[in-house]
Amino acid sequence: MNVRPHTAHSHPHPHPHMARPGESAHHATPDWLLMFRKFMRHGTSIASFTPSSRFLARMICKGIDYDKAQCIVELGAGTGPITKELFRRAKPHTKLVVVELDPDFCKRLRARFPHADIVEGDAAKMDELLRERGISQVDHVISGLPLPSFPAPLRDSIIASAHRTLGPDGTFRQLTNMPFVYWKLYKRYFTDVRFKLVPLNLPPAGVYVCRGYRETAAVV
Ligand SMILES: C[S@@+](CC[C@H](N)C(=O)[O-])C[C@H]1O[C@@H](n2cnc3c(N)ncnc32)[C@H](O)[C@@H]1O
Repeated sequence: MNVRPHTAHSHPHPHPHMARPGESAHHATPDWLLMFRKFMRHGTSIASFTPSSRFLARMICKGIDYDKAQCIVELGAGTGPITKELFRRAKPHTKLVVVELDPDFCKRLRARFPHADIVEGDAAKMDELLRERGISQVDHVISGLPLPSFPAPLRDSIIASAHRTLGPDGTFRQLTNMPFVYWKLYKRYFTDVRFKLVPLNLPPAGVYVCRGYRETAAVV
């Protein structure tokens, strides 16, 4: 697949991690097919048979104060539709860290975002991974992880790990392909949960924007 590189003309503040002109990524397998194969093979740890649309990517990245943000972390980037939108919006001073468990997705992300910090690792160890990089606080966590289909202890530890690094005004942003269904679930973890519907995604999708972690949330 041919990815058109962003140039200085396409955005007034190109993030240094974006592919530069001439740096394009060619992949024999299209993103949708790679995602579909991973879904068929790994099921619930992927939980989506197609990458997020640009409408969903835009929605999850919307409302962030990019002038203020010093560090944004993306969890479960897959083939990188949200990564692309994030890097398009982020200012050069913002540190972006992308955590993805699957080595094939990491390979693709590294080819596509050659200057990005793509971490092949487990989102549940997010605070450790960040500590290794000298990062003690994060402004926003953007999660493409299929949290509802994870076993409760894993989900607990991922959200708790994100909470340990998020600053007081930080947001935890979670995408979903089942609008409204998991509102109660996220309310169990956060005091303030807002939902934004993305009808143009296939299937219709949405984003939970969560603040205020409940210390009593974890079931373990
Ligand atoms: C539903 S896909 C989302 C992909 C992409 N963000 C998108 O919107 O198209 C979920 C992704 O989470 C990754 N993932 C699953 N468990 C993970 C974990 N424990 N740590 C990091 N990534 C994980 C999967 O490999 C997959 O790429």
